[in-house]
Amino acid sequence: MIAKPRTEPVPVVPGRTSAPRDHHFRGSLGRFATGVAIVTFDGVTKRHGITVNSFTSVSMDPPLVLVSIARTTRAHNELAGRPFTVNILGAEQRQLAMHFAGRPGPEPRWVEGETAPRLSSVLAYFECKPWAAYDGGDHTLYIGEVVDFNYRNGDALAFANSTFTTIPESQLGMEDLL
Ligand SMILES: Cc1cc2nc3c(=O)[nH]c(=O)nc-3n(C[C@H](O)[C@H](O)[C@H](O)COP(=O)(O)O)c2cc1C
Repeated sequence: MIAKPRTEPVPVVPGRTSAPRDHHFRGSLGRFATGVAIVTFDGVTKRHGITVNSFTSVSMDPPLVLVSIARTTRAHNELAGRPFTVNILGAEQRQLAMHFAGRPGPEPRWVEGETAPRLSSVLAYFECKPWAAYDGGDHTLYIGEVVDFNYRNGDALAFANSTFTTIPESQLGMEDLL
């Protein structure tokens, strides 16, 4: 059954949580449409990839980006103090998103970046050196300083209401006009 949206705002009471309220909080957050990215990096013993939609740009000068990583993930502790790449996915890369979200498929193709490993054929990437990490409740906010980046043309993969969707490519070179 599809949950009927509430018309009244749900008050946030610190320290008091309930399953329905948590569910509604997730539902409310899900109304914010995002892109989809994979954070890749070399840990102590293995190479990691984790699908995220918590990516955001932070600063132009210096160039900083942020991802929010759940403490419960295997990537969480390993990422501390390590260089990483944020790989932004194209519309045709849903399987790749699921591969790094606990539903492994065929091994993806890797590229050995200058600073951190990255994934082949992604829509854009940002190779980062570690800049800072902040407590974010049950997540940690990892901020990276971008040292290399690039992009290709193509439709973007998006995520909204717990579902993947496509954002069509807008006119090429729009950013040059801004
Ligand atoms: C679309 C999508 C977005 C996600 N966003 C995040 C996120 O921003 N932060 C996070 O910690 N996990 C996020 N996850 C969940 C992780 O990808 C998932 O828990 C992953 O299996 C953790 O891998 P690990 O435990 O091997 O590090 C997301 C999953 C999906 C499918």
